[in-house]
Amino acid sequence: MRVNKKLLSSLFSLLFVQSIATALSITPTSADRGASRYVIENPLPLADQTHEVVRVAKTNVILISQMSNSVLLKATVDDHGLIKDISAFQLGQSTSALHGLALSKKYPGFVWVTLQKDNKLVLLDPIVNSITAAPEVQKEIDVPTPGLGPHYVGEYGDELWSTLQDSSHVLRINYNDPSNYTIYKGLDRPIFIAQHPDNGKFYTGEDNDDKIMKIDPVANTTTQLSILESAGTTPVGLIAGPPGLGIWFTLLGNATQGTGTIGNLHADDTITYHTLSSSSWSKKASLLHLAFDPEAETNYTLWLLASSIVKSDALDMIIKVTFDAGWTKIVSEDIVVTPTQLNKAHRILITPTNVFATELASSKLVSYYTL
Ligand SMILES: *[C@@H]1O[C@H](CO)[C@@H](O)[C@H](O)[C@H]1NC(C)=O
Ligand SMILES: *[C@@H]1O[C@H](CO)[C@@H](O)[C@H](O)[C@H]1NC(C)=O
Ligand SMILES: *[C@@H]1O[C@H](CO)[C@@H](O)[C@H](O)[C@H]1NC(C)=O
Ligand SMILES: *[C@@H]1O[C@H](CO)[C@@H](O)[C@H](O)[C@H]1NC(C)=O
Repeated sequence: MRVNKKLLSSLFSLLFVQSIATALSITPTSADRGASRYVIENPLPLADQTHEVVRVAKTNVILISQMSNSVLLKATVDDHGLIKDISAFQLGQSTSALHGLALSKKYPGFVWVTLQKDNKLVLLDPIVNSITAAPEVQKEIDVPTPGLGPHYVGEYGDELWSTLQDSSHVLRINYNDPSNYTIYKGLDRPIFIAQHPDNGKFYTGEDNDDKIMKIDPVANTTTQLSILESAGTTPVGLIAGPPGLGIWFTLLGNATQGTGTIGNLHADDTITYHTLSSSSWSKKASLLHLAFDPEAETNYTLWLLASSIVKSDALDMIIKVTFDAGWTKIVSEDIVVTPTQLNKAHRILITPTNVFATELASSKLVSYYTL
């Protein structure tokens, strides 16, 4: 049969016109999406153990303690937490064991440090305006006997409070008059201290004994509080919350199990436990440390650090946890694993623009941010 080209062509155009008439509707729709997430791993000078990190207030200078060689790192960072310049200073001998770092409020810009094996608390001016300038010692306080091995140090008014890890004591000492002090005997390994924002008492986690010691410096008494066995073991990170929110601590667990659980210690010494639940990773997380978001009072956000420090196959993670407005239950979890794993992630520091974390075993400083 002879094909009628004209007829075919009109058939095609008819079909084409009909297919246009019956086309799916296509309309612009929302392209909103979440923020991109960036993780920088800043390499640091090599050391067996990288520990604490602080940011000197109102500067772009961060200080990091490397305990195994007693080295203080001084670095400038850009807005994304990328290290621009860095210098390193051995404090004391290579065996002096520089460990704790804490900003002074009494002397803005200065920093208290502990030398765990030299048994000293030291106030340093880090000299922030020159990255190459060596920090200067402002005060040196010997830990009184029988205390041994200061780990954490914190300034509270005219006093320093320090955990003496090696003798299992807690020290209260007036830094203007170091003869004015009290040493409290604790159980095995007091590790961090926080002053309760609501009852004013001091609390310390004794990580090897699964207890928290409460110290009433006015009555000069100590009390031991137990951790609920089903919640987990090994209270390590322990910090004060904003007013009204009590003290918060993480449970690290042991070499075989983490329990993804944190505790909130109220003014009457009762404890509420909160367990992560968003994934099998978070449910069993080995939680070492924690920090409140600078805007926590309005966005109910707490940051947790999970670490392979005692359970060698645990994931090293930064977990952003958001609560309901009453801080009674977790409403969301957001997990970021660090690019280097098995790094024994150690401390987490939140600034208005960055989340920093130290990697103890891999000589790195993580900076995490979203854009
Ligand atoms: C010891 O220091 C505290 C403050 O840290 C002060 O309240 C107290 O009066 C001092 N005691 C003496 C005997 O100086
Ligand atoms: C407070 O208690 C500590 C140890 O618990 C003790 O060494 C010290 O003498 C006491 N201080 C006073 C003033 O009772
Ligand atoms: C480790 O912790 C888990 C959970 O808390 C517990 O069931 C287990 O007995 C602990 N293992 C050891 C060896 O202590
Ligand atoms: C917390 O809230 C502030 C503003 O209220 C916001 O800028 C910040 O990004 C929030 N942090 C988190 C972790 O959501």
